[in-house]
Amino acid sequence: MKLPEKITISDIVDQAERATHMVNQIRSRMLAPNTVKAAPVFSITQLAALCGIDKGQVTYRISKGDLPGGHLNDKGTRREFTLVDARLWVQHYRLVNRRPAGARAVTLAVGNFKGGVSKTTTAMVLAQGLSLRGHRVLAIDADPQGSLTTLFGIMPDTEVTEDQTIAPLAYGETDTIRPAIQSTYWDGIDLVAASSSLFSAEFVLPSRQMKDPSFQFWDVLNLGLEDVRDDYDVIIIDTPPSLSYVTINAFMAADGLLVPLPPNALDFASSAQFWSLFSDLASNLVENAGIAKRFDFIHVLLARVDSSDVASDVVRGWIAATYGEKVLPVEIPKTAVTSSSSAEFGTVYDISRYEGNMKTYSRARDAYDRVADLVEVSIRNAWLSQLSEGV
Ligand SMILES: Nc1ncnc2c1ncn2[C@@H]1O[C@H](COP(=O)(O)OP(=O)(O)O)[C@@H](O)[C@H]1O
Ligand SMILES: [Mg+2]
Repeated sequence: MKLPEKITISDIVDQAERATHMVNQIRSRMLAPNTVKAAPVFSITQLAALCGIDKGQVTYRISKGDLPGGHLNDKGTRREFTLVDARLWVQHYRLVNRRPAGARAVTLAVGNFKGGVSKTTTAMVLAQGLSLRGHRVLAIDADPQGSLTTLFGIMPDTEVTEDQTIAPLAYGETDTIRPAIQSTYWDGIDLVAASSSLFSAEFVLPSRQMKDPSFQFWDVLNLGLEDVRDDYDVIIIDTPPSLSYVTINAFMAADGLLVPLPPNALDFASSAQFWSLFSDLASNLVENAGIAKRFDFIHVLLARVDSSDVASDVVRGWIAATYGEKVLPVEIPKTAVTSSSSAEFGTVYDISRYEGNMKTYSRARDAYDRVADLVEVSIRNAWLSQLSEGV
C-alpha cells in the first residue's frame, strides 16, 4: 500500500499562491477592479418607511417640489430615489433625532474576542442603519484582516495604503485621524480602512511605551478622534477578535460597547473570558494610571440565532441571567440573506430588491432595523449626558 506523501513547506507555498489567485479571481468577478460598489436605490414605499410617513404623504410632498423627486427607473415603471436623495428626505422628517448643538460624536466599539460572531457585519449594518436614520457616520476598521474595509468594496491588501489606516496614529507620525478618512460608496458613511500593515501596531505601541514611560498606549485612538468628533454623529469601530493593543485603544476611545453574542455554549464561555480579561486590564489601568473610564452603555446583542437549535434556549437563559438588562431586546436570526448572490460582500441594507423569499429578508431586515433603533436611543442619551456634563 502506498502511503500519502509528506507535505513540504514548498507545497504550502504553492497552495498559498493558489488561494491568493482564487481570491483575486472571485474578487474581480464580484467587484471589478476600480469599480465602486453601488449604493441601493429606494422605492416610494421604502422611502416612506424610512421617513416614518405614509406613501400618500411622499407623493404629496413630491408634488410640492421642495424635496428631491427621485427619477423613473430604466423601464419607466417605478419611481426610485438614490441614497443621497433618501437621506435628504430622512433628515427632513427625522429632525428630532438629530445631534443637538454642542453635542459631539458618540463612539461605539463592536467587540468580542471571538471571530465569526458577526462583529464586522454588525458594525457595517449599524453604520448603514444609522446613516439611513439621517446620521453622519465614521466607520473605523481596526482589524488588520480588513473585513469591514472589504464590505465597503475595497480590497485591504491592494487598495489600502498605510496612510488610510490608523497605523500612522500608532506610530506617532500624526495625532489626528483626519488624513486617514476616505468617503465611500455609501453617502453619509466615511471610512478609515484597515490592511495587514496594522499588525505592526501591536509591536509599535508597546515599544513606544517602553521608550517613554509617560506614553499612554491605550489613549492613542481616543486622542486621534478628538479632531473629528464635531464632524460626525456616530463613530463606529470594528475590532479584531483578540484583546490586542488596538482593541484596547478602541474600547478606551468608545462611549459605548456592543458585544454580539450567538447563543451557544462555546461562544457564551468565550464571552466570559472576554469580560474577565478586559476587566483585569481595565482595573490595572484604573489603578496604575488613574484612568476613570466610564461607558454610557454596554449592549449584548444575541446574534446569528439559529431558531432550529433547541440548545440555544438554555444558553439564552444563561445569557439573560449573566448580562441582565445589558441584553438588547432583539435577536438577529441566522439568515441566508447575505449569502445570496446579490449581497455577497454586502449586508441586508445593500439589497434594493431581494430576489429570494421576502419573509426571510424581512425577518433579517426588521431585526437589524430594531437594533439600529435601540442603539439610536442610547446615542441620543449619550448626547444628552454630554450636554448635562457640559462637555
Ligand atoms: N445573521 C447572520 N446570519 C448568517 N450569517 C451571518 C450573520 N451575520 C454574519 N454572518 C456571516 O458570518 C460570518 C462571520 O461574520 P463577521 O461579521 O465577519 O464576524 P466577525 O467580525 O465577528 O468575525 C460572515 O461570513 C458573515 O457573512
Ligand atoms: Mg470581523
